[in-house]
Amino acid sequence: MNVLGIETSCDETAISLVKDGKRIVCSELASSLKFHKKYGGIVPEIASRMHLEVISYLFKKVLLKSKLIPKDIDLVAVTYGPGLVGSLLVGVSFAKAISFALNIPLVGINHLHGHLYAAFLERKNLSLKFPFIGLVVSGGHTSLFYVKDFKDIQLLGSTLDDACGEALDKVARLLGLGYPGGPYIEKLAKEGDLRAIRFSNIKTNKPLDFSFSGIKTAVLYYLKDKGYHPETGKVISYPIKLIRDICASFQERIFDNLIEKSFLACEMKNTKRLVVGGGVAVNNRLREKFIQEANNKKIDVYFAPKPLCLDNAVMIAGLGYFLFKEGKCDNLDLEVRASI
Ligand code: KG4
Ligand code: ZN
Repeated sequence: MNVLGIETSCDETAISLVKDGKRIVCSELASSLKFHKKYGGIVPEIASRMHLEVISYLFKKVLLKSKLIPKDIDLVAVTYGPGLVGSLLVGVSFAKAISFALNIPLVGINHLHGHLYAAFLERKNLSLKFPFIGLVVSGGHTSLFYVKDFKDIQLLGSTLDDACGEALDKVARLLGLGYPGGPYIEKLAKEGDLRAIRFSNIKTNKPLDFSFSGIKTAVLYYLKDKGYHPETGKVISYPIKLIRDICASFQERIFDNLIEKSFLACEMKNTKRLVVGGGVAVNNRLREKFIQEANNKKIDVYFAPKPLCLDNAVMIAGLGYFLFKEGKCDNLDLEVRASI
């Protein structure tokens, strides 16, 4: 079965063609990131305009590269949320048009569930079993799920303020690093002292929720204590040791918190399997720390393959196939959802 996947929840316009939920026939992506960089974050209006400009071109490119014609497509799967409404509307409208014109079924996919499904892709010998605890760590979300199977997913906790990736991006901005901040922080943290700054405990009322804005503000106060004032917006040249130490201590504290909550969720749900997906899961230090803790706790931890951790349409087509086989099908009334 040839499934067309469409993803436009944020700044990436992604279209894929996936056969039978696993075999990637073609995956194409255009990012509007460079247009947002100077603002230090995603500008929704720019993102949706760019989706509109490239989506038909990408669709034609995918068909050409796959050596397929439109009537070879059997199903269309599209992200309907969570994400930027204007951006989601472009992908969902395009998907509806294809579904209508080709008279093929349409399946709406939850972007976060897609990030978890990514761990099932490109897995030759290792087959993942249900149930599992799923952690999605991205620029827009930090969410913990109990996944009985992909039709039955329970949200256990999520961020009350900044998402994990968002906190990394904001601290990178305070330090005058580039956007997105995660990769810069990862690189600089390697040379830094993990214990240089001691952050106080990150507290939430519910044990499986997250909160990262306090620790981000703690970095600002730490810089102010040292005599720097990044909030004025002026370019500051910090000593490299200071930057490395902040990156290392901050990243470590955030990852420790993700680990604490994820393994607590495994314990609470009596589950020995943990899946981690989303853009931040590309980070090598995060993977190393999760694997270490998983070994200690005798839990199997699975990551989405690195290229499929970041936003892509392969995970959307893959999960679309899976859910369609289980009987899920939407119609032209499918609505976009900023949050789910
Ligand atoms: O999943 P994603 O591509 O988009 C959303 O759905 O939000 O995640 C983007 C996030 C950004 O916040 C970025 O800073 C973070 O993933 N990221 C990383 C790394 N690469 C990307 N965070 C930590 N380490 C990295 N190497
Ligand atoms: Zn994402």
